[in-house]
Amino acid sequence: MRIVLYRGDGVSEPWEHAFASVMPGVETVIWKEGEHLTHCDYAVLWNPAPGLLAQLGDVKAIFLMGAGVDAVLKFGDALPRAPLVRLGDAGMGVQMAEYVAHAVLRYFRRFDEYEQQARHGAWNPLPQHPKESFTIGVMGLGRLGMPVVEAMRHFGFPVRGWSRSPKDIPGVPTYAGMEQLDDFLHGTRVLVCLLPLTADTTNLLDRHNLGKLAPGAYLINVSRGAIVAEPDVMTLIRSGHLAGATLDVFRNEPLPAQHPFWNEPRIALTPHISALTMRQDAVRQIVAKIDAFEHGQPVADLVDRQRGY
Ligand code: NDP
Ligand code: OXD
Repeated sequence: MRIVLYRGDGVSEPWEHAFASVMPGVETVIWKEGEHLTHCDYAVLWNPAPGLLAQLGDVKAIFLMGAGVDAVLKFGDALPRAPLVRLGDAGMGVQMAEYVAHAVLRYFRRFDEYEQQARHGAWNPLPQHPKESFTIGVMGLGRLGMPVVEAMRHFGFPVRGWSRSPKDIPGVPTYAGMEQLDDFLHGTRVLVCLLPLTADTTNLLDRHNLGKLAPGAYLINVSRGAIVAEPDVMTLIRSGHLAGATLDVFRNEPLPAQHPFWNEPRIALTPHISALTMRQDAVRQIVAKIDAFEHGQPVADLVDRQRGY
């Protein structure tokens, strides 16, 4: 079996070693810009180059080294018709839960305020936010949204969720589709975005929709920057409607040096690290899925190109 590996950041060798350790006997080739590719059974990619996609017409499946598929689906008809398979959790769910728990607790327990006070030598216990009205609304109840829901419930927060199709999660009120978006947003105190970037979700979190959150609400975006209308977030923070935001993802990455988010103290930002791909977990999962393909068995996490995720 022959597998072609390619990463837009050029760091493919460690993936080759990981495949060799999990699937001894497999032949891996690292594609380089401008090279002619001889037949491969499978492709494993992240941020692929158009020159490689054009040569993947006969692979049995294309695997992605991440969970999001927007950077691949943007190639449209230039993308080979082979089944496209993304990572399903593969060690990212627990990282998302850690990241969101940290952001929620920092706001809820007022740690930013205590940090400010400490810098000024102030010993001043602040009143606790009432937990019963501190509702966490999770947008996206998929592989990564669900571990976040579970982590928030563990801390005893009221949690609600929103997805495209209806869900039945015991103890968690759920809302589905655009027709239930307003009900979901009204009363949400901390909004966590774990939606994929699609035609339907681009700019979904704009002034109009964020304005439906309870005053003093807090935004956490850990999926894709273009779901959020960035100038609207600044406006809502400056007006006080949003108390602040924790943002891991941005429309343009790296975040440009002159972007106003850098200088807004009510925005905590990180460089797209909320859930990193765990190479060994990812390779183990891809190898198991290749085995399923080879034996004609169902394969999880197939991308639906029509839906866009
Ligand atoms: P899933 O496909 O498992 O889940 C997506 C969820 O979003 C589903 O519940 C889906 O609804 C819902 N959804 C999709 N479109 C809509 C819509 N139009 N309206 C309402 N709900 C919608 O994805 P994952 O949980 O694995 O990943 C989510 C995203 O996280 C990825 O797409 C990626 O962009 C991002 N990500 C970010 C990382 C980071 O480090 N910052 C790391 C990894 C991923 P339904 O259940 O009905 O299908
Ligand atoms: C992903 C990411 O989608 O790292 O996996 O953003």
